[in-house]
Formats: sequence, structure tokens, C-alpha cells
Amino acid sequence: MKTTQTIALGIGIVLLAIGKSFGQSTDVAMPKLIEKDGRHAFMVDGQPFLMLGGQAHNSSAWPGMMPQLWTAVETMHLNTLEVPLYWEQIEAQPGKFDFSIVDMLLSQAREHKVHLVLLWFGTWKNGSNHYMPEWMKTDAAKYPNITGKTGTPKDSPSPHSKATLEADIKAFTAIMGHLKKADPQHTVIMVQVENEAGSWDTMRDYSAAAQKLFEGPVPAELLKTNVLKALNVPAGSQGNWQKVFGDRADEYFQAWSIARFIGQVAAAGKAEYSLPLYVNAALRDPLTNPMATSYESGGPTDNVIPIWKVAAPAIDLLAPDIYLDGSERVLKVLDLYDRPDNALFVPEAGLIAENAKYIYPVLAHGGIGFSPFGIDDNGQGSTPEAISDRLAPYAQEFAMAAPMMRELAKWSFEGKIKAVVEHEDHAEQTLDLGEWQATVSFGTRHDNAAEAKKPPVGKAMVVQLDKNKFVVVGTQSHITFKPVGNNTGKAWQYIKVEEGSYKDGAFVPLRILNGDETDFGGPRFGVTPTVLQITVGVR
Ligand code: DGJ
Repeated sequence: MKTTQTIALGIGIVLLAIGKSFGQSTDVAMPKLIEKDGRHAFMVDGQPFLMLGGQAHNSSAWPGMMPQLWTAVETMHLNTLEVPLYWEQIEAQPGKFDFSIVDMLLSQAREHKVHLVLLWFGTWKNGSNHYMPEWMKTDAAKYPNITGKTGTPKDSPSPHSKATLEADIKAFTAIMGHLKKADPQHTVIMVQVENEAGSWDTMRDYSAAAQKLFEGPVPAELLKTNVLKALNVPAGSQGNWQKVFGDRADEYFQAWSIARFIGQVAAAGKAEYSLPLYVNAALRDPLTNPMATSYESGGPTDNVIPIWKVAAPAIDLLAPDIYLDGSERVLKVLDLYDRPDNALFVPEAGLIAENAKYIYPVLAHGGIGFSPFGIDDNGQGSTPEAISDRLAPYAQEFAMAAPMMRELAKWSFEGKIKAVVEHEDHAEQTLDLGEWQATVSFGTRHDNAAEAKKPPVGKAMVVQLDKNKFVVVGTQSHITFKPVGNNTGKAWQYIKVEEGSYKDGAFVPLRILNGDETDFGGPRFGVTPTVLQITVGVR
């Protein structure tokens, strides 16, 4: 009989053989994204990996702040910590790089047995230049900000500045070169290039230099039929930005300019050391097609993904930061960022209980990870109880997922997972499982006024192991099955419902659920996620 390890290695090798690699390296151990039939896996140590992540607050990547970060990492059962790298910290003097913070992060992460995703707070941080070193901030003529429509200066760096681009490339390349030397064991598995790039409060740069480019022809790469089609522009359109893109011209010009800049930074870093790279997006409302006056212009919002893909091919994926509310809106975002050319990854989500439910649909989409923002106590001096209460909704999900992380990642890649989340109306939902239909209902009694006011936090995911056998995980919901398709009209029964957990690649039962635990409307999930293995059959 094969050992678990041999099976895992076998899966890794097969996946590598069938998958298309986005990375350059042929090294099996090099983290990389692969794609097959429009689905994605993030390969770490040669096998699909699910990032159970958490992001530090903005000012927490300092030696004295690390203990509270590690408390959060442990409380949350994370396998990956996302942590910023500040340009002002690593290149305080021009050309003199100090990577001691990187070395500290590497060694502490290894001690805590977690991976790192480094966030390059470079030219852009939330649309501004605030993390540029002092020597850049004080030389605005050389490293300029952009100009608004009426000539007012804006708090956002110019994507047209050659000096800024060169300085960013130099710093980012130095970081990637350092990682290549200092991290042969791939503690760092991915790097975010800049942070929520774009501009608030102006759709683009209206400086004289930018205006000249705007009045010039749209670059040929954007005029290809497939790109124009993706942007809802008639094939064959050409001319200047206004002529081709009409009322979207300002935003598209800004997106192209920023994506070209970041694409060059990414390409230079990747040439040094080929880790997966991504850019995160401050989102727009995905349901109403608003103009970029109401959101950050030029970042990879859903409407400009086709521009970013063409302008920045060295970026492996564009990732949504989830701060929108409403389940319809958030589920739409997950749909929009799961594309054959884009693996779904949520690098930030507001750390509120309601957002934890989206981990399940991310898996159903073949997503590669989920990471709430602001996990550490951020110098607040909270009590240990308050800290664990705050982290609890995620801690309990990741505690469930951690022992079965490799299985979840593999099932997700293979498209075996389906999921539902509780919507604001608490209505029950169904899942199509071939010859079975599962119905998931949430909470207990929503005809009861108090219950109806509860936040919609319930969720369930079903992994189809074979025709009649499922792994089901959920909270605050219950699930029942109905025979459909070839089974329609037949009597059915639970053959076996087991509660348990995964250990070393196998399901280990804790108990068989029966009687009251399955008779009244099917297995019920409480506040803490429970893993069930359910076999159903027709009679
Ligand atoms: C999104 C940004 O990417 C984060 O760095 C942080 O500023 C959060 N917003 C909000 O606090």
C-alpha cells in the first residue's frame, strides 16, 4: 500500500505534468501557479496549497511589534502571514539597502512554521506615495505626484515619472535578489507589488506630459479585437483615448499607465527571482457599473482587468480586497476575479464575522487563499480574551481547514467543491450534486423577529467524493438531500453520517451521527465548523 507521502508526491507530479505553469522556473519546489481547464492551483512544495492567511496592520512590520503578530498567527492557525515591506525602511538612503527586516521576518516565520507573503509598499500605498523614502518625498520635482483636472496637485504618484519607475525597479529588484539568496527554502511564497495602486479624487493625471499621451493614439496592444471586445468597444476602433473609449477614456488611460509601470517593476523583479506576483484592488461596486469618481481610478477593478492583463503580463494575478458589504455584491466580485487567466485570491477582507463565510465560495471557485486584514492587536493593549474573541470567526475556520489544507486545495483545483452562504434574507439554498440535490437552510427560525435580525453568517460547503459520498462542512445551517435526475422519485436514506476530521490525508471519524442528529431535517451545524462525511443511497 502507498504511504500518504508517496500519494501526495504522485499527485504533485501528475499536477505538474498536466498543468500549465505561469512561472519561469522548472524547480519543483519553487512556488508557482498552474492552470488546467480554467482552474488554478497554487503549488507550494510541489503540491496544491491553500493559503490560510492573515494580514498585519500597516505599521506592524517592525521588530518590536512582531510578538503581537505571532500571537495572532498562532491564535488563528494561519499557514501564511502577509506582511508589508516598507520602501522608506529598506532604502532610507538612496541605493543603500537594509534587508535586516526581511531577514528577521524570514527567521521568525521559519520558527513559527508559516509562510510569508511580502507586500511591497513601494510607489503606491492606497493610491498615495506615503511609503516612498524621505529622499524621494522631498524631491517632488524628480518624483512627482499627479495633477487633477483643474490643475490641483493630488496625493498620488505619477505613473509617468521615469525617475520613480527606475527607483522602484531598483528597489524591488534588490528585494527579489535578496530573497533569492536568503530564502532557498521558499518561506516567502508570493509577493504583492505595490498596494491598492490607483488614484482617489481624480480619474487620471492631467499634467501637461500626461495630457500629451492622452491625446496620442491608444497603444496597439489595446486595440486587438479580443481586448476591445472585453472592454465592450467595437472591433476596429482606433485613434486617441477619448475617441476609442469615450466616457471611460480617463479611467482606462490611468489603468494602462499604472499597469504599465507596475508591470515593468514586476518583470524586473521576476527576472531576478521568479516568485508569483500579484496586485491587489480597491474594489468598485460590481453591480452598478459606477464611474471612477466613486472609487480608486486605475487600479485593477473588475472593469479594467483586460487592460491590466495586457499591460502587466508579469503579474500572475489580480486580487480583490473585500471591504464591500452585501452577499450579492461580494459573491459577484468572486465571480469576476475567477477567470481562466486569473486565479482567485482574496488577500484582504475586513476582519468581521460576516466575511468569514466567503472562504467557502472562494474554495468553490478554485480559489487559492483567503486572508483577513489587520490580525494583530496594533498596539491597542487588548486583553487576551478580547484578542481571541476578535479573531474567533477566522480562527475556527482555519482550525478546521488546517489539517485538511492539502485536500481542500486539491478538491478546489479539481472543481469538486460547491458552497452556499447565508444571504441577508436568510433564504434556504440548493446545491446541484448530480443525482442528488442538497438543500441548505440557515439559522433556526427566521419567522421569529429576533432570529431574522441576526447577521447572516451561516454557510456550508459540499465536496463530492463520488456519486453518493460527500464531505460536508458548515456552520449555523443544516443540510438535507433529495434524489434527483436518475434518482427522482426514489426513496432514500442516509447510509452513514460520520463526524470527524482529516489527519495525514485520511478522514478520521469521531462518531457516527444518527437518531436526533440526522432525523429532524438532516445534519445540523452549530457555531463551530464541523466536518461530516455523508453517504446517501436510494432504496
Ligand atoms: C486596504 C489596504 O490595502 C490596507 O493596507 C489597509 O489600508 C486597509 N484597506 C484598511 O485599513
